[in-house]
Amino acid sequence: MFQEPNPSPSTQPGRNAKPFALVIFGASGDLTKRKLVPGVFGLFKEKALPDQFEIIGFARREKSNDSFREEMEEGTKKFSRFAPIETSDWDNFKSHVSYHNGNFDDPTAYESLKVKLQALQKAKGIQQFLFYLATAPEFFQEVVEQLNHVGLVGTGDEEGRVVIEKPFGHDYQSAKNLVTSLQDVIAESALYRIDHYLGKETVQNLIYFRFANSIYEPLWNRSLIDHVQITVAEAEGVGTRGGYYDGVGAVRDMVQNHLMQLLTITAMEPPGSLNSDAIRDEKVKVLKSINTPTPEDVAKIAIRAQYEGYRSSDRVAPESKTETYVGLKLTIDNWRWAGVPFYLRTGKALNKRASEIVVVFKRPPLALFKSTDNCEQLHRNRLHIRLQPDEGIHLRFNAKIPGKSAMGSVDMDFAYKSKFGSYSPEAYERLLHDFIVGDSTLFTRADEVLEAWRIVDAVTSGWAEAPIALYPEGSWGPNESELLLQKDGNSWIEL
Ligand code: BG6
Repeated sequence: MFQEPNPSPSTQPGRNAKPFALVIFGASGDLTKRKLVPGVFGLFKEKALPDQFEIIGFARREKSNDSFREEMEEGTKKFSRFAPIETSDWDNFKSHVSYHNGNFDDPTAYESLKVKLQALQKAKGIQQFLFYLATAPEFFQEVVEQLNHVGLVGTGDEEGRVVIEKPFGHDYQSAKNLVTSLQDVIAESALYRIDHYLGKETVQNLIYFRFANSIYEPLWNRSLIDHVQITVAEAEGVGTRGGYYDGVGAVRDMVQNHLMQLLTITAMEPPGSLNSDAIRDEKVKVLKSINTPTPEDVAKIAIRAQYEGYRSSDRVAPESKTETYVGLKLTIDNWRWAGVPFYLRTGKALNKRASEIVVVFKRPPLALFKSTDNCEQLHRNRLHIRLQPDEGIHLRFNAKIPGKSAMGSVDMDFAYKSKFGSYSPEAYERLLHDFIVGDSTLFTRADEVLEAWRIVDAVTSGWAEAPIALYPEGSWGPNESELLLQKDGNSWIEL
């Protein structure tokens, strides 16, 4: 029986990190103190870092090393999965943290950064330079070009690696322009586009679940699967993020990246190996098999809605038409999936936080059970893959109720927590470690990002003139979304 927690990233063979300096651009933003520094601290606690490493915050605001360290201490104490944090641990860690003040468009800030990095190379044996762009997207190009000018990144194999946060573009064309212009200054192999959903343990487990078990693969196709539902529901509204979110909306913020990733991993063919390009090739093939919807299609397959009260949120336009909910039906036109709807939904201010993939199998023939009392209770089998919270997998099937000529649904359950305990590295921790060791499997490739934009662009342009539905906060979204499934004789499964 499995009792040990998963091996920490460092104990996995071939994954030792070389001494590194990680420069975080936009270091005074929320992401750095909520996720990035607590993530590196988690790796430090797990002993997954080399003895020599440096974290350098780069941002526009003037501040001293000490005040930057204090901010990071506050963030780490609040957001680290290792909280409460012992002072001695933080004191050890903070000696690796410093601050570099500079404007993103100021060449002298990069010159002085380079001098600092070279000094660290000499004094501490730092062997690799890594750059994390936690900035607003309009600075991506500028920062990478400036790094290129001082020779810290380039198109060869030897230079530094860069992580880019989302959003990668605003639509297909802007993403394509960004791909093309970045290609001139940095090698694709050195550019890591992050999608934090790929760092979630349960999302990675989807690959193991599908391909490390022989019982599911023969069922995983249009002969036996009726449809698939993918839900990423959030209970929180837009909160303080109105400035970013308004004008972006749920389809760009969530569907283009996180939901498309869930869809491709659920639907892809078995890759030839677990190497990064083998997996990403299969994911791209899925996206390429989704036809671009016409505006007439969009009216039938895509629902957008906004929660009541959204327009009075901080930094949201009073007349905003930004959607906070999307319901979408996609079909994958290949041999495995032709005719099987994939229903996607995501929204803010919904009934609860729940992310789940539900695979609904075809209904068995009813004739055999015509004489049972409740033959209409012969439900379709369902496989629920629950990503968060309460990660687990359960299979629902029909069983005879003892003593009666009737049936009911029963569940077979696997809960991560009860089997593996509560050990679960943060998504950012895993992805930061992959970045440090140079493993790009869980990062998205340019062609993948563009294919997802192709589909999302068709949806947003189809929506251009359409009215936006409203839904009450705390509900499961607009009625229109329910109707989307009802047209096919289906309904959203209660989570
Ligand atoms: C982010 C989105 O990428 O994912 C947010 O920008 C969203 O709007 C978040 O809230 C959801 O992530 P998680 O890990 O909480 O499901």
